[in-house]
Amino acid sequence: MVPEKKRQQVRVLDVAAGTGLVGCHLHKKGFTNIDALEPSEGMMNILKKTGVYTLKYQEFIGTGHSTVPKDTYEVVVVCGSLAPGHIQVEGINDLINVAKPGGLVVILMRLEFFLTHDEYKDKMENFMDRLEKTNVWRKVMSL
Ligand SMILES: C[S@@+](CC[C@H](N)C(=O)[O-])C[C@H]1O[C@@H](n2cnc3c(N)ncnc32)[C@H](O)[C@@H]1O
Repeated sequence: MVPEKKRQQVRVLDVAAGTGLVGCHLHKKGFTNIDALEPSEGMMNILKKTGVYTLKYQEFIGTGHSTVPKDTYEVVVVCGSLAPGHIQVEGINDLINVAKPGGLVVILMRLEFFLTHDEYKDKMENFMDRLEKTNVWRKVMSL
């Protein structure tokens, strides 16, 4: 969704970055301006060694008190972390807050959690629909 020739210009935030797998993949695909948000010090120490991240925020998302500046990123990506005991549905608000107007919020999660787990089942789809009805965001792709 981001053309190759624009990938060096866009700012990306990898939320719940873990060991940095997503950042490494994005870097291989041509993105060079990637920041990480990750609450775990152990994970943070590993992701720093990848060398692909510029800023690193060691904090949780979904608290409503993020230190990440608002309206900053063209791409906010979260992979594998809307999962039981991790980021709750309401955390989507924080993802949107740090994205620039017109930016992309990319959520990758297991369909199983979305469809059947109590923390997300029905709740997540309703939450996302409400955001769309109030023009906070617009769905551009789903699988
Ligand atoms: C399954 S790992 C996914 C890591 C990485 N995104 C990947 O795809 O390899 C989940 C990560 O979410 C982080 N995490 C859990 N709750 C979080 C929250 N509320 N905000 C940000 N990160 C969180 C954990 O510390 C962990 O590193």
